Amino acid sequence: SNAQNRLIVNADQGKTTISRHIYGHFAEHLGRNIYGGIWVGPNSDIPNEDGYRKDVMQALIDLEIPNLRWPGGCFADEYHWTDGIGDPADRPKMINTHWGGVTEDNSFGTHEFMNFAKKIGTEPYITGNVGSGSVEEMSKWIEYINFDGVSPMADLRRRNGQEEPWNIKYWGVGNESWGCGGNMTPEYYANEYRRYATYARDYGGAKLYKIAGGANNWDYNWTEVLMKNIPLWMMDGLSLHYYTIAGSWENKKSATQFDKETYLETLRKAAFIDELITRHGTIMDKYDPEKRIGMIIDEWGTWFQVEPGTNPGFLYQQNTMRDAHVAAISLNIFNKHADRVHMANLAQTVNVLQAIILTNETDMILTPTYHVFDLYKPHKDATLLPHHLVSEEVSFGKEKMEALNVSTSKSDDGTVNISIANIHPDKKIDLDVVLRGIEAKNVSAEFVTAPAIDAYNTFEKKDVVKKAAFRDFKLNKDSLKISVPANSVLMVRVK
Ligand code: AHR
Repeated sequence: SNAQNRLIVNADQGKTTISRHIYGHFAEHLGRNIYGGIWVGPNSDIPNEDGYRKDVMQALIDLEIPNLRWPGGCFADEYHWTDGIGDPADRPKMINTHWGGVTEDNSFGTHEFMNFAKKIGTEPYITGNVGSGSVEEMSKWIEYINFDGVSPMADLRRRNGQEEPWNIKYWGVGNESWGCGGNMTPEYYANEYRRYATYARDYGGAKLYKIAGGANNWDYNWTEVLMKNIPLWMMDGLSLHYYTIAGSWENKKSATQFDKETYLETLRKAAFIDELITRHGTIMDKYDPEKRIGMIIDEWGTWFQVEPGTNPGFLYQQNTMRDAHVAAISLNIFNKHADRVHMANLAQTVNVLQAIILTNETDMILTPTYHVFDLYKPHKDATLLPHHLVSEEVSFGKEKMEALNVSTSKSDDGTVNISIANIHPDKKIDLDVVLRGIEAKNVSAEFVTAPAIDAYNTFEKKDVVKKAAFRDFKLNKDSLKISVPANSVLMVRVK
């Protein structure tokens, strides 16, 4: 064994719960995410249940996703919800100006979304329109969704076939209001937030969890101004968006073709979210030392060039083992900050950016990222455990990182969960784990791995990257030795 690589887990020292909502997702009206990916309509030849693709639905049910954000994204701030209710034949069409200029026929609206959330057993998270909407429009949407009694909107909902209110909880007040959501200044948005949030009412038993549209990347001023200018009782969450981009925003690199240096560049940039959370969090602490307000990282993930030959407005990209590492590192970091990070949403669910699922007409594949979310299930609602990690480094060209990236938690039944990414492309790492505060008897493990860092699944070969049982470990009393394979993500469970 190599004493250089060492992990000490303090199994009796946990305080913070890792909210399962950190494992949330995001589906915008963008490209083939909703249309073709989730919704094909009841008359489609593609096997569907009430218009929803059966294969995708089942994959999401299996993943037990805690929440789903909808309808955007940039789309949210030009979406008018009343266009998406009633008889689909009568629904007006619109142009999806942000995403490819395609026609949006509004066949997937509030009922279709809420019913989908119910079918897959997830909590809906809706983002309302601040950029091009009105206080009245948003207020009425909430009345439509949540009001129990007799009112114009509740009655309209009933006429459209939904008797009971849906009692939604998570509500976003605009999206990226500093950019596509209206190009506002933080001072202006803070005032707008106060108006919109005032009329975003709690009805009956449904208390809204209101999320203010937060900063992009390292815009610390945005966070400062919002925390200062919005009365804390008016918000429950403040969002943060951060995308991992290899190359630059203007010149993004390929999703599948990259050298080892670009690979490390990508993972280093993904890991940068640690610093962003710390620094935005420090500003939030100043105003909210109790950490009542959640940092809601409701857009994160890789953003590469689109697949050659596809519509640039559709953001369709492949997903390699590199994306699996980005997911593992990001989720490990979110766990670490679980006292402040109460929710996160990967962008985006099907066929868009760092998708967990890709579809063609009739077929579906699960991406490496899907398998990491599957692997990480035990962390959901577990107690975060402090650990100490010493890892060797891996370096290519100008880039250097620790080869191992870890998160540790404890499930309700006492099982200790250790997720480990070994980002080294070709070196197996022997890790000594010291387990403090637990008498370990049983170990079981699974891993996601691939023959190469740029390996990915295709419709012809669906299982190049997959999840499998892992057995290369040895338990003696309070020490555990794990041979962590190169280019792999593990979940080791100790009881
Ligand atoms: O996820 C794609 C886009 O990225 C979203 O619509 C927007 O909020 C962000 O700029």
